[in-house]
Amino acid sequence: MDKLAIDGGAALNGTVEISGAKNAALPILTAALLTAEPLIVDNVPHLRDVSTMLNLLMQMGVSASLDEHGSVALNAATITSPVASYELVKTMRASVLVLGPLIARLGEARVSLPGGCAIGLRPVDQHLKGLQAMGATIVMEDGYMIARAKRLRGARICLDLVTVTGTENLMMAATLADGITYIENAAREPEVVDLAHCLQAMGAKISGAGSDVITVEGVGELHGARYRVMPDRIETGTFLVAVAAAGGDVCLNGVRPDTLDAVLEKLRETGVQIEAGGDWLQIKASGETQAIQLRTAPYPAFPTDMQAQFMAMMCKAQGASRVVETIFENRYMHVQELQRLGADIAVEGNTALIKGVPQLRGATVMATDLRASASLVIAGLMASGTTTVERIYHLDRGYERIEEKLSRLGARIRRLR
Ligand code: UD1
Repeated sequence: MDKLAIDGGAALNGTVEISGAKNAALPILTAALLTAEPLIVDNVPHLRDVSTMLNLLMQMGVSASLDEHGSVALNAATITSPVASYELVKTMRASVLVLGPLIARLGEARVSLPGGCAIGLRPVDQHLKGLQAMGATIVMEDGYMIARAKRLRGARICLDLVTVTGTENLMMAATLADGITYIENAAREPEVVDLAHCLQAMGAKISGAGSDVITVEGVGELHGARYRVMPDRIETGTFLVAVAAAGGDVCLNGVRPDTLDAVLEKLRETGVQIEAGGDWLQIKASGETQAIQLRTAPYPAFPTDMQAQFMAMMCKAQGASRVVETIFENRYMHVQELQRLGADIAVEGNTALIKGVPQLRGATVMATDLRASASLVIAGLMASGTTTVERIYHLDRGYERIEEKLSRLGARIRRLR
């Protein structure tokens, strides 16, 4: 199994290109199921989760090809099997995103209950509740959700909590429903808006994406389109935190600063300097940061997907920091690994108190989920000596060539196979 070895202490300098957003690409790829015409998606990152999604779509009879420039051509003219098997769904929870499109287009879907990151229970009750309100019948059989509906009908759906993929699934399902669907308490994440823009390019009638009420007027069919995926705000944030933690001067290109307000605000509070342009960000950091307080919450508040990386940085900050995680109940698995490097962290319930220490020391640590892996890489950049991060297959699910991008900036990082 691949590992990363990092010799800490090097500052990061130079320019880095940010990839397309994983969490926008995944739902956009499943949108191909909604039309019999070709969908071409540009700026798709080369990631394991993307390959998993393409395999899943191909198992259903969708033709898919990915070129070296990150463009994917999909054609779902014939869907031979509306099944998402346990073998694929267990490795990636986002597979549940095929549910809405399949039932809308074919009137039938058979999707295994999801697996994915081990960061909490992550049920799918809201996805199911919404589809049922639109007239679907859903039964559970041998760990599979079996959904059927002759044709979905528009409905008023008020979600009990804000769910990103739940909102996306229902928005896609509603595009082909009979009548108007209102999704209330909808997720406002930029990736939801990106998906809405792609669906609009395919002929869907959607308004309100980016607000907490999305209105979808169903149409008879959608057509083909070409769409470019937005930049990855979490990859952007991860590189910013890496520079803040290690010190240096880096320009990030191909980014969307407007999707990063909460992250940039918290970074500035740590004392780093950030300048923003239309599609770039420049960060200058001494490598010394101040303690901060943060609380994760749905967009536009601070993203849970940036919590672990910030915590790594806080381990060496001046003073005591506090993190409150409100989205996932089990998202502190990086804590015990950071403690192996000498971090002073106490967790009580969903709150973590981090007292900055003068130095972290390299050790062998184990990645437990996608963003936790990124936090261990950041800790390794700050630590003295060598940090070995094991089980980095999690990292490969969500970061494109992270060690290559970091080493171009001057990090001493290598992959051990
Ligand atoms: C998406 C992101 C993930 C991010 C998360 C929160 C993708 C592919 N993944 O995951 O990177 O960490 O948003 O920003 O976009 N919940 C329920 N019932 C449901 C659905 C969700 O109780 O039916 C709960 C979950 O257990 C969790 C919370 O709602 O506590 C938020 O989950 P959700 O927004 O659905 O996360 P994902 O869409 O899976």
